[in-house]
Amino acid sequence: MHPYQRILKYIGHYFTARNTRGFGVHSPFMFQFVQNVLGEKHYFYVFTEIEKLRKSELQNAEAVHIKDFGTGEDRESTVKDILKKSVNTAKCGQLLFRIVHYFKFQNVLELGTSLGFSTSYLASSSSEVKCTTIEGSSEIANRARRNFEKLNLKNIELVVGNIDDVLPDIVAKKEKLDLVYVDANHTQEATLRYFEMCLAKIHNDSVMIFDDIHWSEGMEEAWNKIIAHPAVTSTIDIFQYGIVFFNKNLNKKHYKVFY
Ligand SMILES: C[S@@+](CC[C@H](N)C(=O)[O-])C[C@H]1O[C@@H](n2cnc3c(N)ncnc32)[C@H](O)[C@@H]1O
Repeated sequence: MHPYQRILKYIGHYFTARNTRGFGVHSPFMFQFVQNVLGEKHYFYVFTEIEKLRKSELQNAEAVHIKDFGTGEDRESTVKDILKKSVNTAKCGQLLFRIVHYFKFQNVLELGTSLGFSTSYLASSSSEVKCTTIEGSSEIANRARRNFEKLNLKNIELVVGNIDDVLPDIVAKKEKLDLVYVDANHTQEATLRYFEMCLAKIHNDSVMIFDDIHWSEGMEEAWNKIIAHPAVTSTIDIFQYGIVFFNKNLNKKHYKVFY
């Protein structure tokens, strides 16, 4: 999708989405979620620690050898460039933290670690959280591991490998998945494949979050197929993320919220 098209879509989202005060969201569960999670402003101490690390890594010009899973080729980059181009903003990371914190989730799975910033947010709300994250580029994974050490996060299992190869085994070994955050291979096929694989361990209160649902026509098609899936009840599109609920007490309804 051309960047201009994405900007137009974003403007469209701005004008059609509800705000985070929850007006017009009739389901009490969803209303509470919109107000208390998307609309929450409370700043946690750990946010400062993670953002301090981001600030220092943004100065880091060290070279990193990366495997590009899109083209299949290897290329060179730098820590600061990876951070600028591939890592989500503080606001998005903090939303991941708030979701884990609000639902007191413990079994968290992330696809696409990169330098570990979103992982750090996912793992930081409690030491009870068991966060598994998968990264295919070993040099990037080593950087992420160092970042977890700097933040003293001991509840993260970092698996290095191609998601297509390692995910079936990881899902099979999990008793259940409370939260799955998908931010890796942004193609329709891979997104739907990972969604289907993770469904095996999803329960009534689970949440799945898909990154970049408006990145391309393919990602939008994947999102539309996910929201139409019979296991999915309500969803929220905040443009950057698509948030999926499986709670059978919810009506099948799809919200757009400006976050
Ligand atoms: C957008 S970045 C993740 C950003 C991270 N979630 C954050 O916001 O901090 C995507 C990562 O997924 C990895 N990736 C993409 N396809 C993959 C695959 N098939 N297997 C393993 N890792 C993959 C890339 O190497 C890249 O580091």
